Amino acid sequence: MNAQSSNDRIIIFDTTLRDGEQSPGATLNVDEKLTIARQLARLGVDVIEAGFPYSSPGDFEAVQKIAQTVGTPDGPIICGLARATKQDIQTAAEALKPAARSRIHTFIATSDIHLKYKLKKNRDEVLAIAEEMVSFAKSLVDDVEFSPEDAGRSDPEFLYAVLERAIAAGATTVNIPDTVGYLTPSEFGALIRGIKENVPNIDQAIISVHGHNDLGLAVANFLEAVKNGARQLECTINGIGERAGNAALEELVMALYVRRQYYNPFLGRPADSEEPLTNIDTRQLYKTSRLVSNLTGMLVQPNKAIVGANAFAHESGIHQDGVLKNKLTYEIMDAQLIGLTDNQIVLGKLSGRNAFRSRLKELGFELTDQELNKAFIRFKELADKKKEISDRDLEAIVNDEIQQSPDLFKLELVQVSCGDHACPTATVTLRTPDGKELTDAATGTGPVDAVYKAINRVVNVPNQLIEFSVQSVTAGIDAIGEVTIRLRYDDRFFSGHAANTDIIVASAQAYINALNRLYAALQRQEPQMNPQHSALEDVTPVIS
Ligand code: KIV
Ligand code: ZN
Repeated sequence: MNAQSSNDRIIIFDTTLRDGEQSPGATLNVDEKLTIARQLARLGVDVIEAGFPYSSPGDFEAVQKIAQTVGTPDGPIICGLARATKQDIQTAAEALKPAARSRIHTFIATSDIHLKYKLKKNRDEVLAIAEEMVSFAKSLVDDVEFSPEDAGRSDPEFLYAVLERAIAAGATTVNIPDTVGYLTPSEFGALIRGIKENVPNIDQAIISVHGHNDLGLAVANFLEAVKNGARQLECTINGIGERAGNAALEELVMALYVRRQYYNPFLGRPADSEEPLTNIDTRQLYKTSRLVSNLTGMLVQPNKAIVGANAFAHESGIHQDGVLKNKLTYEIMDAQLIGLTDNQIVLGKLSGRNAFRSRLKELGFELTDQELNKAFIRFKELADKKKEISDRDLEAIVNDEIQQSPDLFKLELVQVSCGDHACPTATVTLRTPDGKELTDAATGTGPVDAVYKAINRVVNVPNQLIEFSVQSVTAGIDAIGEVTIRLRYDDRFFSGHAANTDIIVASAQAYINALNRLYAALQRQEPQMNPQHSALEDVTPVIS
């Protein structure tokens, strides 16, 4: 399906791996990005914005690998972000080369505030740069997207002029960002309508929208934009992203699904048309949400629409009574629509490797033999402790394996003693990156504190623990506990996640996972480059 030719359905452009990864602490390594990209392809997104290749060798490699493995002819378009400079654009083109269908997304700010304080350029200069850089990008790839950053606060007349030039220079998608999440739904709708009416060549491009959630209006703004002609939505899983995040993919998709009779006419269809408005396989939404939350360490609030733990729970007696009589009383969508099964029991102690492998395959996990072996050992250990193993347990085991970086610190042993009359004491043994086994012990205010202090004595990288959370994967006393933590080192954040029936072991492993990310970043000495916070001249490592 070619997104470019589609004007009667909504193109879903996922930017979890680019704007989502700009959330503090959401840094992902190359393998984790690849895992998420594969899942996004299964979910059915049309475009994956895989990263900002010029920012670091790690980002370049991730975009290139995603282009190679997920950018197949029938897979999504793979997109790379580039500031409006030749170096950025050239580097993005290089990283995207292996993709069957690739897109360069280049941007430059157009609001007077950004021109004066960030770019230090006048309007004529910005117009000329936008035109020249779109045409340069076009000389490298066919599919070029242009964004006038901070469009929401730009003078509409100037915005029209920039968009007209960008389209004339070859942009096939023009994306309208509300970069600071300032607009209200009716203002955003009017902005899109104004663009449709005042940019003479607008019919040669798809109108896209991108928006931040600073006032909690991003999703509402996008839906208003759809009514006024927007046909591409830039969004992220769980709404993660800069500051308050981006518009949440799952909320947009389900709003367009549940209220299709309302939205159909805006796309020129009869209200009762059953043709889907997006390409998304909604049954993959819950799983994708969990994967992104686990790998980024960005927890989903329980009352979050669609994917929050309480989104389908009915607490009050009146509601429960109504739902038992007829679900329609208090439910506008079925939990199964987003892939939330009722924790079906799928495997148990006697299940063999083949059953395990084929269930993982059905769940969409493609593991190498080595990964499968490791996951199978974890499954058997779990089956000894827990009689009934659900899909959610299997997902927790596999996600946990994905997160561990074998080349860095490895947890070999953790033991604690604690109680109401004891001084919590922990002993840990870690394998260091150079293969040594080191053991140390510490006391703390509680067992987790003691474990973290003991680990710190071995790893010796100063850091501050700023977030710690434990959640159970399923109900029941034998449930797997998932621990998510976040560390601060200078002004950078690193997250870690782990799952185990023993929450002390999960806590220790989550901490090691976060420390490994911190340790890897220190080894690479990569500056964290935010595409939007840097002027066009800022130089970063160039990828040859
Ligand atoms: O928020 C924004 O303006 C962006 C652009 C790079 C599209 O993320
Ligand atoms: Zn953004």
